[in-house]
Amino acid sequence: MSPFALTRTLPVDATAAALRADVAAGLGAAPKWLPPKWFYDARGSELFEEITRLPEYYPTRAEREILAARAPEIAAASGARTLVELGSGSSEKTRLLLDALPDLRAYVPVDVSSSALELAGQALLAERPGLTVHALVADFQQALALPRTPGPRLVVFLGGTIGNLLPAERAHFLAAVRTLLEPDDALLLGTDLVKEEATLLAAYDDAAGVTAAFNKNVLSVLNRELGADFQPADFDHVAHWDAEREWIEMRLRARSAVTAKIPALDLAVSFAAGEELRTEVSAKFRRAGVSTELAAAGLALRQWWTDGADRFALSLATPAG
Ligand code: SAH
Ligand code: AVI
Repeated sequence: MSPFALTRTLPVDATAAALRADVAAGLGAAPKWLPPKWFYDARGSELFEEITRLPEYYPTRAEREILAARAPEIAAASGARTLVELGSGSSEKTRLLLDALPDLRAYVPVDVSSSALELAGQALLAERPGLTVHALVADFQQALALPRTPGPRLVVFLGGTIGNLLPAERAHFLAAVRTLLEPDDALLLGTDLVKEEATLLAAYDDAAGVTAAFNKNVLSVLNRELGADFQPADFDHVAHWDAEREWIEMRLRARSAVTAKIPALDLAVSFAAGEELRTEVSAKFRRAGVSTELAAAGLALRQWWTDGADRFALSLATPAG
């Protein structure tokens, strides 16, 4: 078998249909919303990588610090021969795990962004010619058909991306992950932690405007994929901390009354001046909440590691009972 295979679990048509359904539902709702997975075309994936290098965006650095310190413990606890990564993006931090797992045979990155998978997969193969990389273009919120690779498996979900799911979606997602795990498998989960508001707001509204460009990129996706005529300049980027739900919301706020046509849906969407479209939630966690959510999905929290400044946590969980 070639050491790099890229498999689409969904035909391109299904992705297009999902986008149309999400846009019709979300822009037809009050208040308006869109799921964050549509940020990540090739440009969106690049912008996310730029975000990870911003001085204000601490999660990537904090998680890398934990991985650098704990990779040997994680490797010893899991003994994985297959590493499955959900929402793998650039796979940059994952290298710390790949290097630490002595028996690793296969890496299975899963992402909706085929450009991110191609770039990451090719770079990894150049660095590690012996590794089999089986990349899956797939939505991790849908049923996943993983390739047949040797166990035990370590499933990793890094970056705090679980925080981009709503609570009910998280419960569904974790229960689905549990069904992928055999008794010897494990889940490594990255979660950003609750902290002071100013730090959080700066991370989601940086001075250089990269997060604003990432947020507005979803409008460019709708323009290209659905023939829509959104003008990104008609909208302001907004980051809001919801202290009750303990999540950041990214929104796009119409600067004046504006109507956008979406020909692929035969739809015109009007915004009043100041009206907001929610494009992402990014939930922040506490240990007790993570433990409870894992337990509800049949997963037991075995290890909890944080960085030195307690900004971010990695949890290692295994099937309960
Ligand atoms: N894990 C990386 C990237 C995080 S960015 C890191 O920690 O830096 C979030 C990644 O998840 C992006 O690459 C995006 O394309 C992917 N993603 C978002 N929603 C997804 C979904 N529903 N299914 C699969 N991948 C998704
Ligand atoms: C991928 N995810 C964890 C990022 C986050 O922090 O919620 C996406 C992001 N949104 C704005 N900046 C980064």
